[in-house]
Amino acid sequence: MEDKKTYYITTPIYYPSAKLHIGHTYCTVMADAMARFKRLSGYDVRFLTGTDEHGQKIEKCAIEAGCSPKDYVDSVVETILRLWDKMEISYDDFIRTTEPRHIEGVQKIFMKMYENGDIYKGTYEGLYCTPCEAFWTETQAENGICPDCGRPVRKMQEEAYFFRLSEYSDKLLDLFRNNREFLQPESRRNEMISFVEQGLEDLCISRSEFDWGIPVPIDEDHVIYVWLDALSNYITALGWGTEDDSLYKKYWPANVHLVGKEIVRFHSIIWPAMMMSIEEPIPKQVLGHGWLLIDGGKMSKSKGNIVDPEILIDRYGIDALKYFLLREYTFGQDGIYTNEVMLKRINFDLANDLGNLLSRTVSMIEKYCGGIVPEAKTKDALDEELIALVTSTAGRVEDKMNAFQFNMALEEIWVMIRRANKYIDEKTPWVLAKDEAGKDELNTVMRNLAEALRIASILITPFMHTASDKMREQLGLAETEIKWEDTFEFYQMEGSKVSKGQQLFPRLDIEKELEALEEIRNAANEK
Ligand code: MSP
Repeated sequence: MEDKKTYYITTPIYYPSAKLHIGHTYCTVMADAMARFKRLSGYDVRFLTGTDEHGQKIEKCAIEAGCSPKDYVDSVVETILRLWDKMEISYDDFIRTTEPRHIEGVQKIFMKMYENGDIYKGTYEGLYCTPCEAFWTETQAENGICPDCGRPVRKMQEEAYFFRLSEYSDKLLDLFRNNREFLQPESRRNEMISFVEQGLEDLCISRSEFDWGIPVPIDEDHVIYVWLDALSNYITALGWGTEDDSLYKKYWPANVHLVGKEIVRFHSIIWPAMMMSIEEPIPKQVLGHGWLLIDGGKMSKSKGNIVDPEILIDRYGIDALKYFLLREYTFGQDGIYTNEVMLKRINFDLANDLGNLLSRTVSMIEKYCGGIVPEAKTKDALDEELIALVTSTAGRVEDKMNAFQFNMALEEIWVMIRRANKYIDEKTPWVLAKDEAGKDELNTVMRNLAEALRIASILITPFMHTASDKMREQLGLAETEIKWEDTFEFYQMEGSKVSKGQQLFPRLDIEKELEALEEIRNAANEK
């Protein structure tokens, strides 16, 4: 058998400084949907996520909490693993930067860069932003403010190791200019081009002020800069440089690193330069997504505007939350989160459009056909139009997914779902049922609706796999394997036995829910 094509996708590794919020969830949900979509369309997928556990910021959190950094990260990582578990995130590997496999790998990377003449010792004098773990020049950090997070930077002076990043400026510019795919969206690409054009300085890659980090292999007084440590995760998790590097050989270069816009710089400049330095291939693509904003700004504990995904999942289920995040926002742009917009999406798209289509269809098949999906003996223009739309949807979904347009991919599926609902109103099965002469046409309508729902249940799996399972149970397809190719063929389910189950997405009382969510938020802020 021919080997399947591989697809390696990663999320950033999150800082376990505090519990994750809906903004972090957003990136992981996109990566999960893409991984599931690629698996379903026949790829051998590797989906990596994890936690970035070293650095001064984490050390500070631990000191404040009065425990060791390792105990501190262990407790937060537990909440992160629980969240991904609850959301049924389908990652294949979870890497923690405190694991020996990572630590050894990072030290090997450092040594290879050193042996290749790309690392030297010097003195760092400049500005540092601890929350972002980022070095800045006076011009970049205007008025002593970090250009990324807006918090004050501080002066730093210490002996340190440097990476000859400046020597990679031309190669990086060539990469950005000649390989448009490498960094998207365009706006980020242009930003990075002008950033590099202004001139790259060598990068300070060690710290000696604190010791929560991976020791520099040639100098125990220093720990490796947390971004060099963190970026390496994408290959240490594949066993790069170890005896068994079969995963590395199989999956590298990564197809895509999905990252938030503020860390595009690290992924598109430092990371490829590191890979060039160790003479390994660079990733195929870095994709920068926008932020979810609340009350016009980023979520933060001090503003008391953190949205906890677990609360939303407990109330509305994982499918509703995932659908909302993927449908509402445009990849690459910032978006505003409000409870109201989320609740409306759940009611309109999920309860009304999808939920109603399923419950109406199953009820009618039970009422008019004894619960058995009938044969379609007739076909008119309306049927033809529905069938053509339904069987061509997967192709359009593929196009949108391959462009990371999750919202448009879902919209394509909803065009079809709304069309099927309209088809019921146009065909008026309750009128056809009154007269024996309408029997064949009634059967065709029932059959076509069942098939449209079968195809919808496959198309939604990458985004909402539990809703898909529930749909398939009601459609009598629970035992049938979900195959993407089955979305292109229409007539497949004659004789299936449908059975009415619970509402797929119960209708929410928006006013009541808004009040309840507000109460929960106030209670959390009082704690
Ligand atoms: N540890 C680094 C990443 C290292 S990857 C080699 C880091 N961690 S983080 O926890 O601060 O952020 C992880 C990701 O979450 C980033 O891509 C960031 O953009 C994303 N988000 C954090 N808040 C967000 C929103 N409010 N909205 C969308 N994404 C957000 O950076």
